[in-house]
Amino acid sequence: MEEHLSVGQVAELAGVTVRTLHHYDEIGLLRPSARTSAGHRAYAAGDVERLREVLAYRRLGFGLQEIAGLVGNPAIDAVAHLRRLRGLLADQRDRAAAMVKALDHELAARTRGIATTPEEQLRMLYDTIGSAYPATRRTEPRIAARIWSALGDARTVLNVGAGTGSYEPADRDVTAVEPSAVMRAQRPPGAAPCVSAAAERLPFADQSFDAAMAVSTVHHWRDPIAGLREMRRVARRVVVLTYEASTSRFWLTRDYLPEFEQLAAALPPLADLTGAIGGQAEPVLIPWDCADGFFEAYWRRPQAYLDSSVRRAVSVWTRVGPEAERRAVEALRDDLASGRWAGRNRDVAALDTAELGLRLLVA
Ligand SMILES: C[S@@+](CC[C@H](N)C(=O)[O-])C[C@H]1O[C@@H](n2cnc3c(N)ncnc32)[C@H](O)[C@@H]1O
Repeated sequence: MEEHLSVGQVAELAGVTVRTLHHYDEIGLLRPSARTSAGHRAYAAGDVERLREVLAYRRLGFGLQEIAGLVGNPAIDAVAHLRRLRGLLADQRDRAAAMVKALDHELAARTRGIATTPEEQLRMLYDTIGSAYPATRRTEPRIAARIWSALGDARTVLNVGAGTGSYEPADRDVTAVEPSAVMRAQRPPGAAPCVSAAAERLPFADQSFDAAMAVSTVHHWRDPIAGLREMRRVARRVVVLTYEASTSRFWLTRDYLPEFEQLAAALPPLADLTGAIGGQAEPVLIPWDCADGFFEAYWRRPQAYLDSSVRRAVSVWTRVGPEAERRAVEALRDDLASGRWAGRNRDVAALDTAELGLRLLVA
């Protein structure tokens, strides 16, 4: 006969109150599979396993209704729950580690007397995610070639929103502008000198540079049009890598992260961006093995989006918030396991490059 535990024994072992277990029973979340002859609740090994899952999801912040849907789903077995819980906990750990690192950088910068303006202190996004950036964000040589060729014969180059220095051409006289202390602190030794400022108010006289460049940063600016006009003011040539918001083309936003649409809608239309510098936009195709881990980079490597270190280096995931991120990643994980993703995206596997709205603006 299968051994059963009383409600008191289970409560003590699990570190919850008897009242909690009664409540879980009443709402149908965890019904003990047996009753004693006196009518008391009796929990079998399977019930205890289910309770462990319930409590683990609870500690991860899930609501009771959401948990009921998860643990009551016959398509998800115990091993799948363990895998899912492990993934969620690893995500939390990576988020916390990224924040600890960001705070360490900030403390180190302050110890060295690097002052932060009130505006900069409000710009916490890159100070929070910045420490995860170098893990996957680096210069993609094929995209760099496009940028460097657009810079023409410019000798002096201003790199606005420079971050850790990707895409800075080594053969020119570069000055970087970067508002985040965490990003500045991660610039490699020997990198171009970096000024703490924002694109919207560049601390340089008119026409100070042969060219100004900005890569994967315009969508972060408080006022992209003002920032682009500033670039135009301080440089004779302007080169900007940005994207044209077109959500339907990318399977990730179309099928898993519709919240991206709201973020994209905040960016002015491409015509306004090109208008601000008096230039033109050229499409930039993304190679399937893109070395720079920006949001769209893994379009043919969908498994990569399950890796939290990949996501932590891309601000989109932080901006949509943990709920949307968790939902999108879980759905993608399920679809990759079931073959549904492959069925829906047959055309993707056959491509070596993808047109996902990346644009080079040149003036
Ligand atoms: C995705 S990173 C790109 C960094 C670098 N250009 C690259 O390609 O690796 C975006 C950068 O824009 C910076 N940024 C945010 N707001 C800015 C602003 N108003 N002016 C200039 N840079 C800004 C962030 O601090 C961050 O370093």
